[in-house]
Amino acid sequence: MSDKVVLAYSGGLDTSVAVRWLKEKYNLDVITLTVDVGNEREFSVVQQKALKVGAVKALVSDAKELFVDYFIFPALQADAIYEGQYPLATALSRPLMAKLLVDVAMEEGASAVAHGCTGKGNDQVRFEVGVNTLAPGLKIIAPAREWGMTREETISYAERYGIPVPVTVSSPYSTDENLWGRSIECGVLEDPWAEPPEEVFAWTKSPDKTPDKPGYVEIGFERGIPVTIDGQQMDGVSLIRHLNELAGGHGIGRVDHIENRLVGIKSREIYEAPAAVVLLQAHLALEAMTLAKDQLRFKQKVAQDYADLIYNGLWFTSLHQDLAAYVRSSQRFVTGTVRVKLFKGGCQVVGRKSPKSLYDYSLATYDKGDVFDQSASPGFIHIWGLSAKTQAQVQLIGEAEGPLSIMPPKKPEENCK
Ligand code: ARG
Repeated sequence: MSDKVVLAYSGGLDTSVAVRWLKEKYNLDVITLTVDVGNEREFSVVQQKALKVGAVKALVSDAKELFVDYFIFPALQADAIYEGQYPLATALSRPLMAKLLVDVAMEEGASAVAHGCTGKGNDQVRFEVGVNTLAPGLKIIAPAREWGMTREETISYAERYGIPVPVTVSSPYSTDENLWGRSIECGVLEDPWAEPPEEVFAWTKSPDKTPDKPGYVEIGFERGIPVTIDGQQMDGVSLIRHLNELAGGHGIGRVDHIENRLVGIKSREIYEAPAAVVLLQAHLALEAMTLAKDQLRFKQKVAQDYADLIYNGLWFTSLHQDLAAYVRSSQRFVTGTVRVKLFKGGCQVVGRKSPKSLYDYSLATYDKGDVFDQSASPGFIHIWGLSAKTQAQVQLIGEAEGPLSIMPPKKPEENCK
């Protein structure tokens, strides 16, 4: 009996060829695992295809809820956005897939797992660091990194073995999708000056074809987790799907990013993430109302480290546990409702309310009912500016020249007439 390998299987050309290749090259029986993270796909068709191209067993795992509860919503609570642009859809799905691959490998007594990533991207890192941390004894095989075939060679390999070549192979784009967003790379997108052609988008309408009237949506959060849409309770999967439809229909969620990959490459990435963009913005707005200034400042730093950690494949680490505990704690009063306006590719928070709001009308107002004690301000300013004043007198900050000059030059006399 041959040894077994569990292959993360998408149903695409590379992973289909990998089924055959793993048998040829390593004499391994291939069990495929297809993870449903909300990519609209006929999973039974993918399963049939896996068996047809030679898998001994084809498994499909519905991981949508796990994905939302353990990956998407914690990342939302953390405000995790890579380099200020990418909501991390693909990156978040990889540790979950690594975990499920390991689970199946254990159950099936497989000695190895495999994935279809090339050697140039982040996904190989995320899969392998994930598997290595969870099951250090498992062998990992990356066929597409090893086989050294060009696209054409892969296609002729497929044809030689009767592996169906999907029509989508003619598309020059490489895509990946799940509930939290869609990633698009390659083809003309590799020219960073070229505007993405309309054909790369599948979830978002072109803003020149969206409704001429704005849409509004009210999102209810409990402890930083979105739980209602326009007052209606919704489970996480449905809520995200609903927002993808709604905001995508207004052209919201397109991202065009020159991104720093972990492996040192800058790459041009296009994303569509309507729900993620709206939810991240709404969540930040609610935090602005319910967290104190210092909490917000600190949390921004954590958000950046959290995003890097997700992007860089370090999900299963102690640092992540520590940060996650902090983030969860920070969310205990992030409860309330945010109203968002959706219009022509843009979304804007136009209202927010919370039972735990720190916004105090009687302190903020310039109208009647003002309770802020303005007579206390001169004393405050005196002490606040004391060290700056002292230093400026001794060190003549206003007279510094060259690179230390922070003062515009005096206007010539005649300009002042
Ligand atoms: N650049 C993004 C990331 O590293 C998207 C990757 C898309 N992956 C793919 N296999 N097409 O997360």
